[in-house]
Amino acid sequence: MSFIASAFKALCLSLLFVVAASRLTMRPKVFNVRRHGSKPDGKTDNANAFTSVWKRACTRISGSSKIYVPKGTFYLGGVEFVGPCKNPIEFVIDGTLLAPANPRDIKLDTWINFRYINNLSISGSGTLDGQGKHSWPLNDCHKNTNCPKLAMTMGFAFVNNSRIKDITSLNSKMGHFNFFSVHHFNITGITITAPGDSPNTDGIKMGSCSNIHISNTHIGTGDDCIAILSGTTNLDISNVECGPGHGISVGSLGKNKDEKDVKDLTVRDTVFNGTSDGIRIKTWESSASKILVSNFVYENIQMIDVGKPINIDQKYCPHPPCEHEQKGESHVQIQDIKLKNIYGTSKNKVAVNLQCSKSFPCKNVELIDINLKHNGLEDGPSTAVCENINGSIRGKMVPQHCLD
Ligand SMILES: *[C@@H]1O[C@H](CO)[C@@H](O)[C@H](O)[C@H]1NC(C)=O
Ligand SMILES: *[C@@H]1O[C@H](CO)[C@@H](O)[C@H](O)[C@H]1NC(C)=O
Ligand SMILES: *[C@@H]1O[C@H](CO)[C@@H](O)[C@H](O)[C@H]1NC(C)=O
Ligand SMILES: *[C@@H]1O[C@H](CO)[C@@H](O)[C@H](O)[C@H]1NC(C)=O
Ligand SMILES: *[C@@H]1O[C@H](CO)[C@@H](O)[C@H](O)[C@H]1NC(C)=O
Repeated sequence: MSFIASAFKALCLSLLFVVAASRLTMRPKVFNVRRHGSKPDGKTDNANAFTSVWKRACTRISGSSKIYVPKGTFYLGGVEFVGPCKNPIEFVIDGTLLAPANPRDIKLDTWINFRYINNLSISGSGTLDGQGKHSWPLNDCHKNTNCPKLAMTMGFAFVNNSRIKDITSLNSKMGHFNFFSVHHFNITGITITAPGDSPNTDGIKMGSCSNIHISNTHIGTGDDCIAILSGTTNLDISNVECGPGHGISVGSLGKNKDEKDVKDLTVRDTVFNGTSDGIRIKTWESSASKILVSNFVYENIQMIDVGKPINIDQKYCPHPPCEHEQKGESHVQIQDIKLKNIYGTSKNKVAVNLQCSKSFPCKNVELIDINLKHNGLEDGPSTAVCENINGSIRGKMVPQHCLD
């Protein structure tokens, strides 16, 4: 009896111990960068200190890790955080990460780059300060072959099942966030800020990605708020404010061989304020790849003084003359596009521009409840342009539609 009782007691105790121990290993080990050789003086390069903290966190086998950047200004040359890691990693940034003012001091394409990682969570009230102001005047590669290569602020490549929230990206040199071959990733609560006239400062750029959610994010920058490139599928965008900037752009597509389809995009509950474009799909008129752009839904979208609120441009040719300039022969097939409840004001008289390819006309474009007024005093009410397009309309239609 007493033997059974004490055996039972021992069993209970050991169970308790197992539970307590697993609790302990479930709590991540915290690596505060200040306790690992980093100096928040805004001058010392913390790149080596950060990468060695990353290596310890990433290779830790006994549980997950949390890298913590407290308040303070941490100057950082280019850094790469490479996996695969043994366990999930949290990266909490409450301080400011400060990029070199001189772009030549970053020897990489991307200032802060994450590669080959699963289960990464980045969060915090901190700021990535790209100090782009000093580089923007040097962005003249179209006329100067000796131009410096400018780095993107933060990149993710071959990263799965991960998330970023709450961080601010300020004044990137080139784009702010770049995603390549990233799958199952959530972006939420992010603030992206650069002046409207800063060159090539895309907000969020992605190619070959799938199952990405972007929500509750404010993007004001000098180029596309969001740029969606070849091979991206299942992208869900909601509650985004875009402006200044060039809108949410799919493309440009079709220029290079080996491009892949772009499918299953939804953009909902979004405001474009003072942007040059709003909803935009652009494909090169001289086209090397034959791909499909399909199954897009744009719904509940407000346009405030937007240059071109709805713009499908299959004759994209930013630096004419283009090869097939007169032909208009993009080989990108656009189909199954729904635009519903799009309202507000257009700066251009042409508020709805649907210029599709002659060789691959747009198919099944649905316009439902469109109300876009021209806010210019001259030139009269807003208009729509349709070329090589098949679709349908329902509900309110301002400007007057031009589908058959
Ligand atoms: C990532 O998380 C998933 C699901 O939570 C888990 O199955 C997987 O083992 C984790 N991977 C790593 C590298 O921790
Ligand atoms: C990431 O996800 C993609 C698509 O689901 C998959 O092909 C790839 O193997 C995954 N990579 C890793 C490192 O798990
Ligand atoms: C992204 O958010 C959705 C909806 O909140 C959630 O179901 C999903 O698990 C999240 N994925 C990641 C990778 O955090
Ligand atoms: C649009 O932008 C202008 C100028 O920045 C700002 O004053 C206004 O409040 C914004 N409107 C909305 C609805 O966000
Ligand atoms: C639109 O569809 C109709 C009927 O299917 C077809 O006759 C017409 O050629 C199509 N127009 C374009 C521009 O594809």
